[in-house]
Amino acid sequence: MASSISSKWSKIQKNHSPSSHGTPYKLVSISGLLIFLFCIFFLNPPNNYQPFSRLLSTSSCPTTTTTPNSLTNISHIVFGIVGALNTWNSRKPYVESWWRPNITRGYLFLDRPPGPEFQPWPSNLPPLRVSEDVRKIPTLTKTVNPIPARIVRAIIEAFREGDKNVRWYVMGDDDTIFFLDNLIGVLAKYNHSKYYYIGSNSESIMSNIDFSFDMAFGGAGYALSYPVVEALAAKLDSCIERDSQEHFSDYILHSCLADLGVYLTLEKGFHQIDMRNDTTGFLSAQPHTPFLSFHHIDAIDPIFPSMNRSEAINHLMKAAKADQSRLLQQTICYHRPTNWSFSVSWGYSAYIYENIIPRSILCRPLQTFTKWRREVKLHFYVFYTRPLSSDPCQAPHVFFFDSIELTQGDEQVVTTYIRKSPRGLPNCSSTGNHSADAITKIQVLSPATTRLEAGGRDCCDIEYADRTSVTQVKYRPCLKNEVIA
Ligand SMILES: *[C@@H]1O[C@H](CO)[C@@H](O)[C@H](O)[C@H]1NC(C)=O
Ligand SMILES: *[C@@H]1O[C@H](CO)[C@@H](O)[C@H](O)[C@H]1NC(C)=O
Ligand SMILES: *[C@@H]1O[C@H](CO)[C@@H](O)[C@H](O)[C@H]1NC(C)=O
Ligand SMILES: *[C@@H]1O[C@H](CO)[C@@H](O)[C@H](O)[C@H]1NC(C)=O
Ligand SMILES: *[C@@H]1O[C@H](CO)[C@@H](O)[C@H](O)[C@H]1NC(C)=O
Ligand SMILES: *[C@@H]1O[C@H](CO)[C@@H](O)[C@H](O)[C@H]1NC(C)=O
Ligand SMILES: *[C@@H]1O[C@H](CO)[C@@H](O)[C@H](O)[C@H]1NC(C)=O
Ligand SMILES: *[C@@H]1O[C@H](CO)[C@@H](O)[C@H](O)[C@H]1NC(C)=O
Repeated sequence: MASSISSKWSKIQKNHSPSSHGTPYKLVSISGLLIFLFCIFFLNPPNNYQPFSRLLSTSSCPTTTTTPNSLTNISHIVFGIVGALNTWNSRKPYVESWWRPNITRGYLFLDRPPGPEFQPWPSNLPPLRVSEDVRKIPTLTKTVNPIPARIVRAIIEAFREGDKNVRWYVMGDDDTIFFLDNLIGVLAKYNHSKYYYIGSNSESIMSNIDFSFDMAFGGAGYALSYPVVEALAAKLDSCIERDSQEHFSDYILHSCLADLGVYLTLEKGFHQIDMRNDTTGFLSAQPHTPFLSFHHIDAIDPIFPSMNRSEAINHLMKAAKADQSRLLQQTICYHRPTNWSFSVSWGYSAYIYENIIPRSILCRPLQTFTKWRREVKLHFYVFYTRPLSSDPCQAPHVFFFDSIELTQGDEQVVTTYIRKSPRGLPNCSSTGNHSADAITKIQVLSPATTRLEAGGRDCCDIEYADRTSVTQVKYRPCLKNEVIA
């Protein structure tokens, strides 16, 4: 079932210009203007919800203009992925999960040339480059710490490939997963002709104290506009020389960019994942911003139970192929007849609480995860967390994403979430003894034809909750000034 859908989605994706966020195309001719008006009028209705299927068909409108202000799309990005030969075999599935062969542009930089067992290099992966040997670079002295220097120099090595019409260089590790549709939409908001350094700091306050609150953590991935990279091409080696004993490439870059007067633009959707073990609580309470990246996959448990790490990432990608705008976005609604709260992290998990819990509490991640640096006593995060609880009125029933299908003439997406294991707690008695133990499955209906606006939210209704073992949650646009409490 899911596989027939994924082929359907991949067909749709081919024609899909995912960056369509309503920015007008620059067209010069009169006929172009007419088509432009058609596009605006019919394809971008004035509310926040744009029909997805109509967005798909924008490719029939002329986007061929090469003026510098045309809408940013996937071909304007060059990726620089930095890996090491030793770990490449285990990291390869992570790159494969998001890389779109012959569509995404970019390079994988390894530290040494791979042996014959890696040849020929497959065409479904980023083209391979071997990083320049830092010790042989005439502009660098022998005192330079070679590992961070190699990693940060991938920026200028990618630049020297000389790709045409590049607006953004996006750098990441071989264990960084990017969500391309969301990434394009976010980058399209910024003027690529200006200096931009876009990324995110760490979830862990301690990591930010160790480095900087104003540094983009490289594992989360970050984007540099073309003019920034052009400036770095001339300056980076002198920065490396200055910070020759620095161990962290991200810090060298941050300090070099500060010299150029370029400071970090924070986008919360980049995720360094400086945490360990079970990240399910974190992934089940994401802020309302497009989910852009995910990292440290080998340091954490598989994100879905009873799957290995790469299987789990590919499983999340089934939902990501259908609708990245909603992916992992938290939607909360209440069912009054049972006094239950529902919290859905679209494409990932669904929680039922046998209690009415305010949204201001539910948006705090349950602290299922442990700290990144084991030796550090304090572990604070840049967001509030909720402690795990065995109070039946506080502990959720947990369901995980299982499958996805299109219904109603492809107008509606149905994602199904199944119970992980019995909760093993009594009923919450203070709210009326309405047990959710019998529920095995939650179906979430969301529109296939309207994408969630960046920073926007959905509202939901519980269609039925207590009649059967299946519960249905229906997404809809929020009403004006709707209060959900
Ligand atoms: C991206 O936009 C450019 C114009 O700036 C256009 O030439 C190119 O075909 C577009 N690529 C895709 C994949 O839409
Ligand atoms: C990418 O394009 C090349 C050349 O057109 C082709 O040989 C190759 O099979 C394509 N690879 C994939 C994975 O589509
Ligand atoms: C983008 O920035 C460039 C350089 O500062 C400027 O010339 C151009 O007008 C800007 N474009 C938009 C759409 O603001
Ligand atoms: C967390 O994961 C590490 C391995 O990465 C493991 O040694 C440790 O026991 C785990 N801790 C918990 C609380 O599960
Ligand atoms: C993960 O599971 C997939 C599918 O079952 C399998 O092909 C792959 O080898 C497994 N990976 C690891 C590291 O065990
Ligand atoms: C909901 O919980 C309140 C107490 O919080 C209780 O007074 C009320 O009767 C419950 N409603 C139902 C339908 O059980
Ligand atoms: C719920 O069940 C408990 C234990 O059986 C009982 O003490 C409590 O009064 C019940 N509450 C309601 C609202 O029925
Ligand atoms: C728990 O709830 C179920 C269904 O709502 C009810 O049948 C059962 O009696 C409750 N248990 C207690 C101990 O009240």
